[in-house]
Amino acid sequence: MIIAVDGPAASGKGTLAEGLARHYGLPHLDTGLLYRAVGWAVREVPEGPDFEARAIAVAQGLDAAHLRNLDELTSAEGGVFASRVAVIGAVRQAMRQYQREFAARPGGAVLDGRDIGTVICPQADVKLFITCDSKVRMERRARQLENRGLTVDRYALYHQIEERDARDRANPHGGFYKADDAHLLDTTLLDIEASLRAAIAIVDGTMAHKAGL
Ligand code: DC
Repeated sequence: MIIAVDGPAASGKGTLAEGLARHYGLPHLDTGLLYRAVGWAVREVPEGPDFEARAIAVAQGLDAAHLRNLDELTSAEGGVFASRVAVIGAVRQAMRQYQREFAARPGGAVLDGRDIGTVICPQADVKLFITCDSKVRMERRARQLENRGLTVDRYALYHQIEERDARDRANPHGGFYKADDAHLLDTTLLDIEASLRAAIAIVDGTMAHKAGL
């Protein structure tokens, strides 16, 4: 079973995807981490032709060594660096095969990102599109960062999230929209447990429907 989980920054899709993977005993790929790794590797290169060429080269040679420093990659700056490289078509293309191979593992997988249900796995068995009010997303991300002992400027964080949303929405190589056959799950008023219960109900319901039960 392949489960695709898409949604905007800090919508809780990663936590949900992890929970679904645990519940169904499936491997999980956080595809945002791949973009974060590429963005981090070229964070000091000024924008321009050289920036694109360097980002493409990193994406083509991406390996486990790039994914090691999770604290840096999952920071708020890591998200901004990721969104700078995610608009480069050749970067997206370089990472497509890896994501598709991950999804094609025997037994299936859970992948979360922005374009899983539309571009990476249009054939996924179940697609979820997560939405959440942007102020609630900011507050959740702020608490995550504070739990790591970091000091958070909520005003700046809110603007960072809005900036990323705008850049993601305008991505010409995106596919960052809800697939026609994706289930919409709004987590604004749900905590993690309630979101996961709702997601499991959608997955079970979809699979039972497909099996003609
Ligand atoms: O999901 P995230 O916040 O870790 O994603 C970081 C950035 O990577 C986000 O701004 C958009 C980009 N991204 C993407 O373009 N395609 C994906 N499948 C996942 C993430």
